[in-house]
Amino acid sequence: MKAMQIAEGVYWVGAIDWNLRNFHGYETEKGSTYNAYLVIDEKIALIDTVKEPFKEEMLARISSVVDPAKIDVIISNHAEPDHSGALPFIAGIAKNAKIYAAAGAGIKDLTAYYGDLGYVGVKAGETLSLGKRALTFVPTPMVHWPDNMVSFMTPDNILFSNDAFGQHYASDERLDTECDLPEAYIQARKYYANIVQPYGMQTGKALAACANLPIQTICPSHGIIWTKHIPEILSLYQSWVANNFDDTAVIVFDTMWHSTEAMAHAIENAFLACGLKPRLYNLHYCHNSDVIADAMTAKYIAVGSPTLNNNMMPSVASFLTYFKGLNGNKKKYIAFGSYGWGGQSPDQVHEALAACKCEALMPAIRLAYKPSAEQLEKITADVIEAIKNS
Ligand code: FEO
Repeated sequence: MKAMQIAEGVYWVGAIDWNLRNFHGYETEKGSTYNAYLVIDEKIALIDTVKEPFKEEMLARISSVVDPAKIDVIISNHAEPDHSGALPFIAGIAKNAKIYAAAGAGIKDLTAYYGDLGYVGVKAGETLSLGKRALTFVPTPMVHWPDNMVSFMTPDNILFSNDAFGQHYASDERLDTECDLPEAYIQARKYYANIVQPYGMQTGKALAACANLPIQTICPSHGIIWTKHIPEILSLYQSWVANNFDDTAVIVFDTMWHSTEAMAHAIENAFLACGLKPRLYNLHYCHNSDVIADAMTAKYIAVGSPTLNNNMMPSVASFLTYFKGLNGNKKKYIAFGSYGWGGQSPDQVHEALAACKCEALMPAIRLAYKPSAEQLEKITADVIEAIKNS
């Protein structure tokens, strides 16, 4: 395990988690990395650490450059354990290192997890000299925890952005110029949708705070490092923060005997007729976190469930709970569902979507038992009319 040099005197010393498939409910089909960075100057600085089980991997990478006991400074940009888990371990080796974190929330969170390791709080704009280089700290609260901050290093102009601009994407390539770039963008979008999306306003403030920095490299705490494609990733973040809609419509459903599925296709036909690009997700096969990534910019969302034991299906309830926590914009919605005798699910879905910052396009659509061709055609016609009138 060796460090990877990313600039003169600056090394990636993190860990690659090829096996990660679930990050608190977010399906991470490409694994992840926990990025820690080592700066060799008159002072030796470690910026963030890794998840606790990967501490030996980080130690080996640091040791390939310098004796870890010689680390003078440890920066904790964020206390979530995927970045701070190895902090007590490395602090126990680098016994003279000072640990810097955001004054207030950063110190509070690290103390809660690891006890008092003698943290030093830093405030907005405060600068720490490493010798030829200096680190300036920029708090970015609620992107996505209260303690988040980023660190900007001059004269290299490297932004250590922690979770912002990250991707759950394991690879041996560290730079955007080496990796599968389309995959990096897909994973950056999924990361934003599943982690950052509810904090768009705070993210907008963080982007504004960094707007005047002459950034040449962005070193996030997950995934690849942005060098050549910084304008592209900044532009993507600006559009996500702005909650811009595209021309897609997401249809999410589960089905028991294909009646709700048939309704989903009737709604799909309506979206197509209105010039939209529908995306269908049967929750029996699709993961909530993938649906969220596409739903983020969709203009419309339709959610359907059959009635099962007087309720919507658990898969749909799970999706709606996840969506309620993450949805960042006021898209228009359609609730729909089939039933045998009870018929509660369409109204339950309707109420749940109303609680998700969404606006009803039309009353909930319901059909008993097996829908006829005429009934399905009427659903298509009714949805087309509702879209035209909206
Ligand atoms: Fe990657 Fe909020 O931790």
